[in-house]
Amino acid sequence: MEARREAGTDVWSRFYVNGLGYNSDLMDATIRRAVLADAPRLQRLINDYAGKGQMLPRSRQALYEHVRDYLVAVADGIVVGCVALHVSWEDLAEIRSLAVAEQSQGSGIGAALVRAALEDAQELGVRTVFALTFVEGFFLSLGFRPVDKSELPHKIWQECVHCIHFPDCDEMALTLDLTA
Ligand SMILES: CC(C)(COP(=O)(O)OP(=O)(O)OC[C@H]1O[C@@H](n2cnc3c(N)ncnc32)[C@H](O)[C@@H]1OP(=O)(O)O)[C@@H](O)C(=O)NCCC(=O)NCCS
Repeated sequence: MEARREAGTDVWSRFYVNGLGYNSDLMDATIRRAVLADAPRLQRLINDYAGKGQMLPRSRQALYEHVRDYLVAVADGIVVGCVALHVSWEDLAEIRSLAVAEQSQGSGIGAALVRAALEDAQELGVRTVFALTFVEGFFLSLGFRPVDKSELPHKIWQECVHCIHFPDCDEMALTLDLTA
């Protein structure tokens, strides 16, 4: 991956191209790290989908505590998407809280957010990134591969008890090997 940050800033260029074949022409947003002031917007974005059972809800407190995990996509000055990279173990991290506002979907923003999170993961020394998701096709298009849930450490299921789908969950587990 060759996601570039603009010199002297913490912003990824909208024109980056990386080894996973991202088509930058589709995206019209800038990706930057979240700041505390983004929390209300993040909460609305995430919890709207959580209300439909598509992802886990996030409290304002959790967003503040984990703000450094989050990246946001901004278009015309508005946060239109977010993703979190949560480190689970010495070599393992999870893509969480991935959401793109409905009116901004289908423009490559979701893919760009995940790619930026993967760039972060590589810088941290993470070897494997995983996602638990209902949008398997989205992650497959980014090079993730399905895995049996039993291959992931038990520790990662702690959050599941908070989910409306627990214990009859049909989320897929997918991983991406960053060392390949
Ligand atoms: C899933 C989501 C983040 C995708 O964001 P997006 O900006 O619309 O996605 P992109 O435009 O970057 O799409 C990238 C690729 O994934 C594919 N894709 C997008 N959504 C998909 C879906 N729901 N199922 C299968 N494939 C999907 C696109 O067709 C595209 O493929 P291509 O590169 O071959 O053209 C967005 O639909 C969303 O926020 N959904 C609701 C919340 C949710 O389900 N979050 C995931 C929790 S793990």
